[in-house]
Amino acid sequence: MLAVSDLAVRFGGVTALESVSFDVRPGSITSVIGPNGAGKTTAFNAITGYLRPTGGQIMYEGAVLTGLRPSAIARRGIVRTFQKTSVFPALSVDDNVLTGLHLRGTAGFLAVLAGRRRLIAEELGLAADAAAIIEFVGLAHRRREVASALPYGEQRLVELAVALAARPRVLLLDEPGAGMTGVEKALVSGLIRKIREQGVTVLLVEHDMRMVMGISDTVIVLNGGRVIAEGAPAEIQAHPEVIRAYLGASAGSA
Ligand SMILES: Nc1ncnc2c1ncn2[C@@H]1O[C@H](COP(=O)(O)OP(=O)(O)O)[C@@H](O)[C@H]1O
Ligand SMILES: [Mg+2]
Repeated sequence: MLAVSDLAVRFGGVTALESVSFDVRPGSITSVIGPNGAGKTTAFNAITGYLRPTGGQIMYEGAVLTGLRPSAIARRGIVRTFQKTSVFPALSVDDNVLTGLHLRGTAGFLAVLAGRRRLIAEELGLAADAAAIIEFVGLAHRRREVASALPYGEQRLVELAVALAARPRVLLLDEPGAGMTGVEKALVSGLIRKIREQGVTVLLVEHDMRMVMGISDTVIVLNGGRVIAEGAPAEIQAHPEVIRAYLGASAGSA
């Protein structure tokens, strides 16, 4: 479905990714793990068009994605969240989610931002969708509050709701559990499972090993910009090179 082959990304003298290849099976939850600086976010940036790789190719359902702009990739249904929260702090939860609707490709982003989002949503019959999505992530009681007034974990849920508003076919989540409480992380794990049950393919970067090993079908391990292992959670947890390169360095979180 999503096929990354021989991907390379260099920043000047720094090699962030080198000959990275992996496939993401449709309907799977696939996680990318690895120590800080391993290249996980860089891989997401390359897949979603936020940076142009130095080499290699990214294919989605047989078509080349490499070189397309982020908006064109999003229109194909490949939607991401960011490692650092990227909600619009001054907008309400409702309005944040409506901004996600522009990614469906029917309304220009500027029109959506320039106060026409409510009108557009009504016209397209999407306002109800936004309400359902907010309810799905458990923020119905926060709908009219400005995003900046929400606790950090809830702001991350807003971000997830914005991504869902774009109706992704492939959803890339960059450390959705970062900064969350244990209870919030468990909630997010449950949401990711439900999102997958709705037919969405999920690609996840996450440091919390309980979350990764609990929900992933396949785990890909990056270290120093290279794939050092790929397999089911049980295989990865028993993989000597992974234990050495990654889990050994942070055994407490494993
Ligand atoms: N825009 C950039 N310019 C220069 N170096 C970068 C840039 N983005 C990432 N890097 C470097 O690429 C490597 C991989 O980073 P990153 O993909 O953010 O790792 P991870 O998400 O696995 O922690 C690191 O050495 C990082 O410093
Ligand atoms: Mg990162």
